Amino acid sequence: MVVITGLSGNIGRILYGGLKDKWDIAGIDIKESRELPIRILDIIDYNSIANAFEGVYGVIHLAANANAGGDWKKIVGPNIIGTQNVFRASQESGVKKIIFASSNHVTGLYEKEEPYRSIVTGQYKDLNPADIPQIDHTMPVRPDGYYGVSKVFGETLGRYYSEEFGIQVFCIRIGTVSRNDRPFDVRQYATLFMHADLIKLVETCLENETVKFGIFYGVSSNTWKFWDTGHIKDCLGWQPEENAEKFRS
Ligand SMILES: NC(=O)c1ccc[n+]([C@@H]2O[C@H](COP(=O)([O-])OP(=O)(O)OC[C@H]3O[C@@H](n4cnc5c(N)ncnc54)[C@H](O)[C@@H]3O)[C@@H](O)[C@H]2O)c1
Repeated sequence: MVVITGLSGNIGRILYGGLKDKWDIAGIDIKESRELPIRILDIIDYNSIANAFEGVYGVIHLAANANAGGDWKKIVGPNIIGTQNVFRASQESGVKKIIFASSNHVTGLYEKEEPYRSIVTGQYKDLNPADIPQIDHTMPVRPDGYYGVSKVFGETLGRYYSEEFGIQVFCIRIGTVSRNDRPFDVRQYATLFMHADLIKLVETCLENETVKFGIFYGVSSNTWKFWDTGHIKDCLGWQPEENAEKFRS
């Protein structure tokens, strides 16, 4: 059994569609959704979720305030308190692995500098995709708001739970997952994480039994991508296959 927190949301629905034939999936959310197997529970309230992970193999933790520009008061409940509650309840219930939805906004401020600034504004003149330095998991975090800060917290919490309690923790710094699976602004030609790649990466994490802790960028193999995917290949033997460039007219 795999539990997805935030199952009613955009990514929850995509993953449910992609994983339900192979995995027994249940979800928790504060939002009802008739067509999904959801229990209405609020992750901010520890007592509400304390028993939600009994007998569960893996947790995909998506529930959050997903607004990258969200103010601290709205972020702190779901993203800090809620995330700690999910990790704690998972550990106390003997969950083997947690896949944590981190975000590219953990390193968002790199985009203020070249060549990233030119790429996200579509000024490709004088740039060669093969020469773009890829931002990777070893570089200092540079969050671009409280949302990004909250995701740094989640990654750090994940490291603690992995080292202290032996839970496998996969932190995926998700790029852009759009509902209609295509870019809708110029930045997304670099940042798009297409549904097929997302599902395959999560499947790979669910199946992996050797990685103890990892931070991975979740982005498709876009021509203009600037986040490293070599580390995923080294650790998980997987690489993205889609490329947002196919939508360029
Ligand atoms: N969509 C993207 O491009 C993207 C990019 C980077 C990271 N992420 C992360 O991936 C995760 C999912 O993103 P999404 O686009 O599906 O967001 P979403 O807003 O569509 O879904 C989030 C879900 O979490 C639920 N939720 C919020 N607070 C809750 C609480 N207190 N208790 C229980 N459920 C709660 C919401 O009701 C919603 O259904 C988030 O953690 C987000 O930060 C998304």
